[in-house]
Amino acid sequence: CVGISHAYVIFGATGNLAVHKLLPALYQLHCMGHLADDVEILGCGRTPFTQVSWQAEVRQQLLKQGVADDAALEGFIQRLDYLAGSLTEATFYQALGAWIQSDGECANNVIFYLSVSPDLYVTVTEGLAAAQLLDEAQGFRRMVIEKPFGHDLESARTLQHSLSEHLKEEQIYRIDHYVGKEAVQNLLVLRFANLILEPLWNRYHIDHIQITHAETVGVDGRASYYDKSGGAVRDMIQSHLLQVMALLAMEPPVSLEAEALRNEKVKVLQSIRPVNLEALATHAIRGQYAAGEVKGEAVPGYLQETGVAAGSHTESYAAMKLYIDNWRWKDVPFYLRTGKRLKERRSLVAVRFKQPPMQLFKGSGVYQPHPNWLLIGIQPEDAVRMEISAKVPGLEMHTRQIVMDASVSTPGERKAEAYEELLLDVIKGDRSLFLRYDEVKAAWTVVDPVMQRWADDEQLPLQYPAGGWGPKAAEKIFGDSDRAWRHTL
Ligand code: BG6
Repeated sequence: CVGISHAYVIFGATGNLAVHKLLPALYQLHCMGHLADDVEILGCGRTPFTQVSWQAEVRQQLLKQGVADDAALEGFIQRLDYLAGSLTEATFYQALGAWIQSDGECANNVIFYLSVSPDLYVTVTEGLAAAQLLDEAQGFRRMVIEKPFGHDLESARTLQHSLSEHLKEEQIYRIDHYVGKEAVQNLLVLRFANLILEPLWNRYHIDHIQITHAETVGVDGRASYYDKSGGAVRDMIQSHLLQVMALLAMEPPVSLEAEALRNEKVKVLQSIRPVNLEALATHAIRGQYAAGEVKGEAVPGYLQETGVAAGSHTESYAAMKLYIDNWRWKDVPFYLRTGKRLKERRSLVAVRFKQPPMQLFKGSGVYQPHPNWLLIGIQPEDAVRMEISAKVPGLEMHTRQIVMDASVSTPGERKAEAYEELLLDVIKGDRSLFLRYDEVKAAWTVVDPVMQRWADDEQLPLQYPAGGWGPKAAEKIFGDSDRAWRHTL
């Protein structure tokens, strides 16, 4: 047990994120003994629950999600309380202040989790500040902010400006749940706990790197939000995929301490070459799913989804070619892509190495021996694979590709959910997996010009049938090289 008394206050407690991610994660932390005995979790929302009806609701939700109805669940439920009200009214914050006061010693330390629409971030912060609830005289007051942090560079600046009037940087936890995934953290271990990769991890040996996040789901349930405020670049690339890229490309940090790690990540993000807008069609590609079939089921196209504006140009697929202009990576392309309603749910990193300077052998039947690939599965399986050439048994000196394959977890081992790790880090005050403002700003700087150019473009994004691997033209991103997307491990 970390034994830190505190209150966890969740704004937007009845929303999807809270119900499906935050409360289950807090439940797991409770089960693992990471919550001090007196920790209370306050849900805030507009729906008028009482403490009793909220506890019943959460119990039912957790049972539906497969949690066993036992003493652990009962113990967790007892930690829950609820405060109904409107986040735009001062009386709500007064009531919240009274609740915190009445919570005794444990409420000297309070974590506020903003699981609400981004346009409420400033409203809530100002409400809390006006009620003196961000004051750290008695203990800590931490604010967890979900992505997106702003919807472009300008709005991120404005948001930062408003927040920093009431909060010190140390109080702000900008969460990117992707960074909390076991397999994403494993990128650090693979790179910095082993020596075999480091000598090869540079422009002299790596041909290119691909980062893929593919989903089979569409935008159902949040279509109108996604259509107005999302799009694949804003929703996935600006945050999650650029973070993965930063972890793959950064220099070894001097320690895992928050500033050391984030200093290295931000250097990568700041070194990304501006996307070539003159040749945008081969540097950034956007698509939108049309009707099709995913896993045997007929699904509507993006434009037919309820909540999507007629003729919307919002992209559900995006691919980008990026370069990092630094000593290690100059001229090595990083290809990032993500899409909804694709063939499989799969996230992976694929690193292709250069060919040896001379080819002594013939491939079996094929005359072009395979290059080496390092494949790192992020989800669904967290596996590490290395593709290498070996001799085909027989009298000829022919080669073929063999695979060295390892699953990172062993059967039966429980993988922690990203939010479990991150919510615990907030309690501990460890900000290493949270984004610093300069990282967010650098990431917006990369994607902003592309988003603006697309916003001015009158053509619809390329249509791709649901259930495939995205628009055919996404291969154009490789120019006339012999590169191609790796869809699977
Ligand atoms: C979220 C995006 O941040 O990440 C979603 O808003 C996306 O659109 C999700 O589906 C993907 O994360 P995961 O962990 O579900 O693969």
